[in-house]
Amino acid sequence: MPKITEGALHRLEKSAHTAAGRTYSPYSKFPVGAAVLGGSGKIFSGCNVENASYGLCNCAERTAIFSAVAAGEKSVSAVAIYTPTSLPTAPCGACRQVINEFGPDAIVISVCDSKNRIETRLSALLPAAFGPGDLA
Ligand code: THU
Repeated sequence: MPKITEGALHRLEKSAHTAAGRTYSPYSKFPVGAAVLGGSGKIFSGCNVENASYGLCNCAERTAIFSAVAAGEKSVSAVAIYTPTSLPTAPCGACRQVINEFGPDAIVISVCDSKNRIETRLSALLPAAFGPGDLA
């Protein structure tokens, strides 16, 4: 996989920020934007999409990953998440599991409206993950 540049990560963060503007979150009123860097080098973004049947709400990270996979990506090397908060938001457990499927060592960056940020790896957020290898 090619080296991930600072420029690519910056574009990823910007894309997550822009995606938050497309959120459909009338119930939680908690907008989230996400962007993933696919193995091809292309960026795919997503926002949280809620539903009147609350259990059907889809997180921004999963929207972004499903878009990437639907466009033909097979792997994800980095994920950025933006929330309009003063503290950054780490991906929920379900999203960690879905990121693991395509990017078990992906860089995960959470940014917000302050200088606070989280920069970590999926492997740190979901240690000892269950994944495709367990079914082999
Ligand atoms: N949400 C995300 O989009 N990503 C996360 O990792 C955490 C939660 C969304 C789901 C729901 O629409 C709203 O935030 C409140 O939980």
